[in-house]
Amino acid sequence: MRKEGRLTRWIGWTVVVAALLLVGFIIGWFAKPTRPNTPNDTVSGKYLREFLDEMRPEQIREHLRKFTRLPHLAGTEQNLKYAEQIMKEWKEYGLDSVEMVPYDVLLSYPNKTQPNYISIIDQLGSEVFNTSLAEPVPEGYEDVSNIVPPYSAFSPKGQPEGDLVYVNYGRTEDFFQLERDMGLNATGRIVIVRYGKISEAIR
Ligand SMILES: *[C@@H]1O[C@H](CO)[C@@H](O)[C@H](O)[C@H]1NC(C)=O
Ligand SMILES: *[C@@H]1O[C@H](CO)[C@@H](O)[C@H](O)[C@H]1NC(C)=O
Ligand SMILES: *[C@@H]1O[C@H](CO)[C@@H](O)[C@H](O)[C@H]1NC(C)=O
Ligand SMILES: *[C@@H]1O[C@H](CO)[C@@H](O)[C@H](O)[C@H]1NC(C)=O
Repeated sequence: MRKEGRLTRWIGWTVVVAALLLVGFIIGWFAKPTRPNTPNDTVSGKYLREFLDEMRPEQIREHLRKFTRLPHLAGTEQNLKYAEQIMKEWKEYGLDSVEMVPYDVLLSYPNKTQPNYISIIDQLGSEVFNTSLAEPVPEGYEDVSNIVPPYSAFSPKGQPEGDLVYVNYGRTEDFFQLERDMGLNATGRIVIVRYGKISEAIR
């Protein structure tokens, strides 16, 4: 008898729990909003909408133009001027606080008095061809001074000399192919790499 009573109690509890679950499910079902939350329904959605409305290609173009018009290598005066301008504009837009924080960082600049160049040397050791020290100034930038010459940042100084090997894009598979299929070993040679697949920084 006692055993049977316990069983009945268990069945009773199970029914109660199942009923509660069902009620909860029904409440949940009907309380569900008929529409999912669209950005228009919430306060954050309001800001999102305002934000998206602000996004106009012309405005992005204008901003980019303004902050890229002049050479502004990190650590230079022009870079500081742009930083100050951004700070001023952010304050005008209503940000509560905008701070400029100075950092000490290691930077590398091109050598103005003795810029790097690449030359082809003949058997007598004379430089028969030199690369130019600057790139042609793009149209519309003729009046801009302080254009930074192209340079490979953080590259050590040196005067390497050696045979030339053309290594396609300079990818690992390109070197493999040279060695495997053509029996060429680029070690100790100067490689000519074409642009397009890997960053200059890892060459
Ligand atoms: C949200 O509101 C904007 C403007 O009030 C309206 O153009 C847009 O259609 C609305 N979007 C939805 C999903 O209701
Ligand atoms: C530029 O290169 C020359 C010659 O190597 C060197 O004497 C000079 O210190 C360099 N200048 C700078 C700013 O690094
Ligand atoms: C290349 O530059 C070196 C050093 O400035 C100079 O001696 C040489 O004549 C130049 N060669 C050419 C072809 O301009
Ligand atoms: C290429 O040459 C270097 C130095 O001579 C050597 O250490 C390396 O094993 C060579 N690589 C191949 C694939 O032969």
